[in-house]
Amino acid sequence: MELIFATNNRHKLKEISALLGDNYTLLGLSDLDVSEKIPEDHETLEENASQKAWYIYNKFKRSCFADDTGLEVTALNGAPGVYSARYSRIGHPVFPEMEPAAGNIRKLLLEMEGISGRAAQFRTVIALVLNGTEYQFEGVVKGEIALSSSGNMGFGYDPVFRPEGYNETFALMDLSLKNRISHRARAINKLIEFLKGM
Ligand code: IMP
Repeated sequence: MELIFATNNRHKLKEISALLGDNYTLLGLSDLDVSEKIPEDHETLEENASQKAWYIYNKFKRSCFADDTGLEVTALNGAPGVYSARYSRIGHPVFPEMEPAAGNIRKLLLEMEGISGRAAQFRTVIALVLNGTEYQFEGVVKGEIALSSSGNMGFGYDPVFRPEGYNETFALMDLSLKNRISHRARAINKLIEFLKGM
């Protein structure tokens, strides 16, 4: 069966393709020559994932899924959440001279200064539009925000996120371990279980 993943990220595509196995042919946006930016202008991960999946479904009338991820910090009432990618650029932009991930981490550590309750979670929502019906899958990894950055693997907030049950941040962790326990892996595994049961 053919399925579209609304992403330009080759790495994500390859990883999910391997997990899905031979029964599925997974196509990315570049395989469909989609070069425009797909709108994701809502205030929740659920709505954004849904918007992206329906945009592609309506354009090609082919089954499709999309994902959206955010880091949710309890002491910050769930921020940066849906704004995780552009956290340091919203409101009064801070650290505009830094590349986005570094600026985001600096802002997060500043916001968390003096706060002892550092619980946080990464949450991924996948929206699948299959033959015109939508299904959603959620993956969560709980943890906490470290007091300072450590490690240089992974991306985004990995240097300051320490998953529950581990002493190291995601950025210090072997990538294969991160990919087994991550929010994205958990959401993807739910999607795969669902598809295998079809
Ligand atoms: P996306 O929806 O996968 O593009 O993720 C949105 C933003 O969340 C990214 O730009 C990162 O800042 C952050 N993010 C998502 N997944 C991870 C992760 O596994 N580690 C660290 N940061 C992440």
